[in-house]
Amino acid sequence: MKPNLSVNIGKLKLKNPVMVASGTFGYAEEFSDFMDLKKLGAVVTKTITLNPRQGNSPPRTCETPAGMLNSIGLENPGIEVFIREKLPFLKKLGVPIIMSVASEDGPEEFVALAKRMDKIKEAAAIELNISCPNIGHRSNLPPKLISQDPKATYKVVNSVRKVTQKTLITKLSPSVTSISEIAMAAQAAGSDAIALINTLSGMSIDVEKRKPKLAVVTGGLSGPAIRPIALKMVWEAYNKIKLPIIGMGGIIDISSALEFFIAGASAISIGTANFVNPKISIEIMSGIRKYLARNKISGIEKLIGSLKI
Ligand SMILES: Cc1cc2nc3c(=O)[nH]c(=O)nc-3n(C[C@H](O)[C@H](O)[C@H](O)COP(=O)(O)O)c2cc1C
Repeated sequence: MKPNLSVNIGKLKLKNPVMVASGTFGYAEEFSDFMDLKKLGAVVTKTITLNPRQGNSPPRTCETPAGMLNSIGLENPGIEVFIREKLPFLKKLGVPIIMSVASEDGPEEFVALAKRMDKIKEAAAIELNISCPNIGHRSNLPPKLISQDPKATYKVVNSVRKVTQKTLITKLSPSVTSISEIAMAAQAAGSDAIALINTLSGMSIDVEKRKPKLAVVTGGLSGPAIRPIALKMVWEAYNKIKLPIIGMGGIIDISSALEFFIAGASAISIGTANFVNPKISIEIMSGIRKYLARNKISGIEKLIGSLKI
């Protein structure tokens, strides 16, 4: 038996449900020497803003127990340079490209970015990054995020929904009291899918220097350390909303990937694990296929939300 790995995310049809998480895979070209990129379910780009961003000052990454902190701060060349210099390679890939976008300046910039992306035939979907903990620090304190407020989430998603027919994915932050409240706001505003989770806000200190390990003090925690939180949020949202969920947070192997499908994710993204093994997403994808065959499950759709309680 050859299990069916295809899934639908809004209008987007994926041949398999394994994608790479925004910011951990560059614009894909960086990984082309290591793997056959065509095997991926989809590629999510590094988040793009309207204007170029240099990102935060270094140091902007450090290791933590079972994970890492990053405070990259959405370094990117801006949308026009992206279209000119990065998109031509992505267009040739033959894999759905999900364009991750963020605003430095409220809903209007999201709308401008979405209008621009809407004209790009090869943009299979738009992912709204309303959950980056690394831009807009307030006197060294972590920023307030759009996705920490259901009304602000609704406003951004709804404004973008009005200007594009493309599949819209809303990426949420785990740094909230109720993830389902925010997910429901995104659903009500017209999002086609939810991506869960972005990094958790955290910090680390060099005790000899008594200085933060990151120049901007706080950063986003990722990797296996956050997996139980991510999993719980996927499960919680799955029980409250009707939209497909793209699950991520600490997936490093086949077993951790399967946990997310069983909790309710329709697809998964691999992030930090790409830095350890650039081929990990392909290995996980074939491991999922073998698991389904071994357990006589005809397709991934049957596994989604199959948690027995
Ligand atoms: C170095 C680094 C850069 C990231 N940059 C982005 C980004 O530009 N946009 C975004 O939406 N998420 C970004 N993320 C978050 C990841 O996409 C993902 O949501 C998070 O790391 C959890 O997954 P993981 O534990 O598998 O890494 C970044 C994560 C890391 C580690």
